[in-house]
Amino acid sequence: MTERKKITITTLFNKAAKGEPISWLTCYDYPTAYFQEQAGIDMILVGDSLGMTMLGYDGTLPVTMNDMIRHTQAVRRGAPTAFLVGDMPYMSYQPSDETAIRNAGRFMAEATCDAIKLEGGGEMANRIEAIRNAGIPAIGHLGLTPQSVAALGGFRVQGKGALQAKKIIDDAKTLENAGAFAILLEMVPDRVCKIITERAKDCLILSLGSGPDAHGQLLIYHDMFGLYPKFKPKMAKVFGNAGEVILDGLKDYVNEVGDKTFPQKENWFTIKDDEYDELLDLLD
Ligand code: KIV
Repeated sequence: MTERKKITITTLFNKAAKGEPISWLTCYDYPTAYFQEQAGIDMILVGDSLGMTMLGYDGTLPVTMNDMIRHTQAVRRGAPTAFLVGDMPYMSYQPSDETAIRNAGRFMAEATCDAIKLEGGGEMANRIEAIRNAGIPAIGHLGLTPQSVAALGGFRVQGKGALQAKKIIDDAKTLENAGAFAILLEMVPDRVCKIITERAKDCLILSLGSGPDAHGQLLIYHDMFGLYPKFKPKMAKVFGNAGEVILDGLKDYVNEVGDKTFPQKENWFTIKDDEYDELLDLLD
């Protein structure tokens, strides 16, 4: 890809105004960030899903701010122009506005993020407002919010009933009014997402499994390429099975070492004959 200009909030709103969908992916490491940048991705989320995809936990709750900062710095090194979003991990924002501002500030100062994302409905409006008032762009996250998965009764679609759908619509407006410049809707029914998108005035609506009518789409990178062994969510599309390619290659390596077909001459280094003879003399 040729050098491109830095993606900013203005770039994103301009795209939405022209009806051009925004592309957004999770990413947790330098080489993947490099490829995503080369592919022209608009936004990157360093999600606390890295607890599962990178660190092998069963959920996101054990992830710390230090985990997030380390991975986000690596991603920024690989993707200097993408709009980079740091995901606030569990208990990095829930306790108080001050805790939230301090940790959001770490994403900006230590990892050069463009924005942060946090989970929760109307009850998080104060946090969004406090972070926004500290000069940090904030993204809300409604619907299936993995940090509250126990309270939500598991990984399931949110807002299937009219009352629950109405609450998500109201929460979206509350977060927008609190200053969220974007909201992610995860596993919300398509027509509910459409209503929220149509009603959003100064707020970008992004969809993860919530249909085509949002301003943009998010996918979890590991789900796109068969890289997470424990499960594949229904909403994820597999764009290529890198997991299978890697596993086949690893089996071949184990077999080739076993049957001595690896290494071949091009895979090792040699010493010149005269140096070798001199070495043998030295050893004698
Ligand atoms: O952590 C993450 O990747 C997320 C997505 C599930 C939206 O928050």
